[in-house]
Amino acid sequence: MAASTVKITDTTLRDGHQSLMATRLRLEDMMDIAPTMDAAGFDAMEVWGGATFDATTRFLGEDPWERLRVLKSLIPNTPLSMLLRGQSLVGYRAYSNDVVDAFVAQSAEVGIDIFRVFDALNDTANVQRAAAAVKSAGKHLQMAICYSVTEEGRLGGPYYNLDYYLGKAKDYEAIGADSICIKDMGGLLAPYDAYTLIGALKKAVGVPLQLHTHYTSGMAAMSVLKAIEAGVDGVDTCCAPLALRTAQPAIEPLLFSLRGGDRELRIDFNKVLEIDDYFESVLPKYHRELQSARVAVIDARTLDHQIPGGMMSNLASQLREADAIDRLDEVLAEIPRTRRDMGYPPLVTPLSQMTGSQAVNNVLFGRYEMITGPVRDYVAGKYGTPPGEVSPILRERALGNAPMESADYSQLPPELDGARDAVKHLSDNIEDALIYALYPTTGMTFLRIKHGLDPMPDEMKPRTDTDDAATASPQIDRERSLDTRVFNVYVDGAHFEVEVEPHENDSGAAVQTATARATTVSRGRRSRRQRAADTAPTPEPKSQRESASASPTALAANEVAVVAPIPGVVLRYAVEAGQTVTEGDDFVVLEAMKMENTLPAPTSGVVKALVADIGATVARDAVLAVIST
Ligand code: CO
Repeated sequence: MAASTVKITDTTLRDGHQSLMATRLRLEDMMDIAPTMDAAGFDAMEVWGGATFDATTRFLGEDPWERLRVLKSLIPNTPLSMLLRGQSLVGYRAYSNDVVDAFVAQSAEVGIDIFRVFDALNDTANVQRAAAAVKSAGKHLQMAICYSVTEEGRLGGPYYNLDYYLGKAKDYEAIGADSICIKDMGGLLAPYDAYTLIGALKKAVGVPLQLHTHYTSGMAAMSVLKAIEAGVDGVDTCCAPLALRTAQPAIEPLLFSLRGGDRELRIDFNKVLEIDDYFESVLPKYHRELQSARVAVIDARTLDHQIPGGMMSNLASQLREADAIDRLDEVLAEIPRTRRDMGYPPLVTPLSQMTGSQAVNNVLFGRYEMITGPVRDYVAGKYGTPPGEVSPILRERALGNAPMESADYSQLPPELDGARDAVKHLSDNIEDALIYALYPTTGMTFLRIKHGLDPMPDEMKPRTDTDDAATASPQIDRERSLDTRVFNVYVDGAHFEVEVEPHENDSGAAVQTATARATTVSRGRRSRRQRAADTAPTPEPKSQRESASASPTALAANEVAVVAPIPGVVLRYAVEAGQTVTEGDDFVVLEAMKMENTLPAPTSGVVKALVADIGATVARDAVLAVIST
């Protein structure tokens, strides 16, 4: 057994806030404390990767590359680590090899020292290119094996048994891993299983071992201690304010647990206390992101549904957006069934989101009535080989009689030049090209904001303390009801969407209140939505009462609206105006919950108008198109 100090990777600035507050911690709230964190004695700090890259561009209006550059300058002494999803990098599909190479090279250049690389299916084919890119950048390659279990909830069973993990570890050592990490995203690794697993791995491979686990089920602190007893070389922890719950175990009790022993930590406790005080002072303004419906610190049910923390907070916020938060329990019950049908993939990005949003679709629209694009691709074999079998019903619904495909990334045509081309009117910066290559839709929205072509939407701006005061505008918090009606209003050429909601006033009479939200349609630029609205046969509103009961796009008796069943971003139409469609035909692709959902034509007829712009963010029940029957 190793008689050296346990190495600590601090995950506060990545997995901590990803798990507890949907990755919304802003750089400005990291900068003041970063030098103290650098001096605390951590062996590494995980600050980047996966959701941080996505959330900065999608929600925070913040350049992820700039975040890394600033953190590197403030944390010059502690190696910085990132989580990388193999061929999927920090995105949700496999990218071409030239994008993988460029992304890894640029990340290494800007400041990443340790690349923790994994594949959701633990499929070596999916990590090989990224691993080679890390090696050629001369950086530390840490290969992570996703820890998963089947229904019995223990190490063992038909798929996730000791042989499985030992085999994966040897495969990863063979492709050049400098260390190997067991990545337990769901907090499913029980303490004695940790002892067994780490002990066996220590004998099987020669490189250092690391344990990354989540507190979710309440076992993590015990599992970490048993892994240390079994000789694990390093573990991941968070500083207390962003530890526990669905995040990592806290550093503070571990520090004292090991004190005086032969594996004592080399961490400065006073610095840790400074870090804790700092986050105690800045995190209250994020109370909305931090809010939890649960009183308990642990979620014992996670041992049933096996849902990792990040996924849990995403599911809750996605269901809230869809006005369906009351169906969370049904979704939680559906997730294990969907997972079994998918052949027991580990619930880690992107498979956790794929399984989660398919389960949401199954609950909201009926089982496999609406299959997301990624699940279709997964069933076709494009994500690699699942540990188990895909159920016949899912296979049939997803593919019909279409053949299986293989995940051969060498066949993917190069994508980087296309991405450079797509952003060349904005910049010739490789970092911008990579943002676009990773997220063509939300990435382009971000880049237009970054380069000043579009204003930053209010919801992307940092929240000020006063926003949270009791005097804050009540409209911001009010939940929209099912009766809300949306109107397009033009004032001097500028477009506003006005939401009108009937509600009871003090005397009990129904009155109308309107909340105006300016959209990003700029003055003078006429969007398709504007044109469609202009040409639509909108009757003159005769009074406020009448207009409030009309729908946003007035329909004739023979017209049927194609509406968004969930909020999302319109990615593309599968049809054109004037085209004849048959009920059930692929009609429009809506990105919701980060998944592409193909919506079928609700009726047969002729496409009269495509109302929503490509790239537009639409609310639930928004009219996307009109079909004349
Ligand atoms: Co994690």
